[in-house]
Amino acid sequence: MLYGADYNPDQWPEEVWDDDVARMREAGVTTVSLGIFAWSRLQPGPDEWDFGWLDRVIDLLHAGGIGVNLATATASPPPWVTVRHPDVLAADENGAPYWHGSRQHHSPSSPTYRRLAAELVRRIAERYAHHPAVVMWHVDNELGCHLPVEYGDSARDAFRAWLRERYGTVAALDAAWGADFWSQRYGSFDEVFPPRKAPYSRNPAQVLDYRRFMSDTWLSLFRMQADIIRAAGATQPISTNMMGPFPHADYASWAPHIDVITDDCYPDPSSPTRVRDIAFQRDLVRSLKRGTPWLLMEQATDAVNWRPTNPSKRDGQLAAETAQAIGRGADGVFFFQWRQSRAGSEKFHSAMLPHAGTRTRTWESVVELGSALAALPELPAPSDSPVALVFDWENWWAVEGADHPGTVDYLGVVRAWYGALHRRGVMVDVVRPEDVDGRYRLAIAPFLYLMRDPGVAALRAFAAEGGVLAAGPFTDVVDESDRFRDGGFLTQLGPILGVAFEDFRPLLPPTLGDAAARAGAASVAAASPAEEAAVAFGSAEFAGTFFAEALFADDAAVLATFASGPSAGRPAITRRAHGSGSAWYLATQPDERGLDLVVARLLAESGAESVLGIAPPPGVELAQRGDLVTIINHGEGEARIPELGLALGPQEHAYVRQDGAA
Ligand code: GAL
Repeated sequence: MLYGADYNPDQWPEEVWDDDVARMREAGVTTVSLGIFAWSRLQPGPDEWDFGWLDRVIDLLHAGGIGVNLATATASPPPWVTVRHPDVLAADENGAPYWHGSRQHHSPSSPTYRRLAAELVRRIAERYAHHPAVVMWHVDNELGCHLPVEYGDSARDAFRAWLRERYGTVAALDAAWGADFWSQRYGSFDEVFPPRKAPYSRNPAQVLDYRRFMSDTWLSLFRMQADIIRAAGATQPISTNMMGPFPHADYASWAPHIDVITDDCYPDPSSPTRVRDIAFQRDLVRSLKRGTPWLLMEQATDAVNWRPTNPSKRDGQLAAETAQAIGRGADGVFFFQWRQSRAGSEKFHSAMLPHAGTRTRTWESVVELGSALAALPELPAPSDSPVALVFDWENWWAVEGADHPGTVDYLGVVRAWYGALHRRGVMVDVVRPEDVDGRYRLAIAPFLYLMRDPGVAALRAFAAEGGVLAAGPFTDVVDESDRFRDGGFLTQLGPILGVAFEDFRPLLPPTLGDAAARAGAASVAAASPAEEAAVAFGSAEFAGTFFAEALFADDAAVLATFASGPSAGRPAITRRAHGSGSAWYLATQPDERGLDLVVARLLAESGAESVLGIAPPPGVELAQRGDLVTIINHGEGEARIPELGLALGPQEHAYVRQDGAA
């Protein structure tokens, strides 16, 4: 179990370093991420290099038995870079530059930036590839975090090259983008620009491709650096820290290029959905490389500095959130950062070693956590889950596009489904449609508006081969270029679902509409279900949200019917049997109560079980990794789990082997 933090000794005089290492040992730190923002200290000027201080600090850490996750320091180019080379600066959608004075102000497409970054990385890698302290490489930092999309001239040129590679000919590009609409037909790739500021709605296929391009660009920057590190002879794992469900990077497409998944997670202590959202993020990153442990690369020991108000964590919360990570596959836990900064934008951000010193709750909990982690035995590899929740970045970009029948909160919807499974203690893999396979018993695909052909094939095969598939609403609407397919909607999944599509019939989005009106508009009543006795779904009512689609259940049983709203009397949930499996379609997004009912029914039908078959009491989280079961009480009072003979106080957790050993 790795334990540590970002370490920024370049912010401190060398006299402090000895104390740092001594304190790290006291806290049980095993590893630190070093030099993440050190470019201006490593290369103070175009022809000046200074590795002496880094040599000394790495040796000092090594002598103290602390490993180094060595950063490539490329995340914040020094002022001399952008003063000498203004083409390094990123630009907004008006083409106006972002200036230095913060961080991440560079264009990842800039050839000058890439040349300078490559030189820096080469020197670092060649110098330290064989240093015994270096256990891992940390490429850049949160690629794309602050400037996920930029529109400058370097991006323009790189976008054109990316499009040439994707489409081959401009005629193919025109066809994919539907360029005959509004006279957008291009005569050559040189006429194409990033989707910069325009008077009205921009071509949705162009916008979608630009998001793909930006995600690919950040990945290519990672790969450029990883190649340089390898070429220098380094053999340690290479990673870059992700940000869970970060909207702008298709991490599922990045994962194969990254040796070990590392994730940063800063939950809002005041969010009512905090526990669920953390668990979702843990499962999402775990699912990026199924069966492989990952590292929690950044979390906060206590408050952050960057929300309008930054409440403290409550007692025990840090340990509980850390247990969520370990129980869901983490083999290491790190913080931002080791010693609290004394200047700069993040001086109020908590750290392992607070500015107020060691007579603090934070320091005590950091030391306590260090010794608890050191006492853990070797942990099993994460295992597959019985349920696949389909989540797809390209679909996210497309489904939330402009000019649609209704406004969709894709992440919100996916997390709502996850919440219903989490409340029941069921383990979930969060995967792309093409990764749904026979390992799962149940697959849920909400709002899968954009469907690529491999995803279509996988979902069809899953349902045909005995899985239980639940899809919809607003699913199977466009192809990968955001074009309608010939023949209407639900053209790909309709045959296995046994339904035909008539109309979308949007409802006001849940966060914008008045709750009572919403419920009236889409109240759903189950229709005399024959097999539903095992779960309380038949006589129940719940509200549908976002859409009340008009469907024909040509070859499917109707499990629920709209009782009111724009599709009153029409099917709301359908089911078509396939041998031992089935394919369900939801013409609406159930509210929380509805999700509980539908999920209970889907679990019963698919045979997907909760962890140890236990129904957790409210506030209690169950997680499974191999034969290790983690039980966490996030509630305010004591929680009893009689099946395990356990009683846990608020924020307490326990690890139990599947055979019952504590
Ligand atoms: C992360 C970043 C760190 C630090 C931290 C503060 O996004 O990687 O460098 O800024 O946030 O919460």
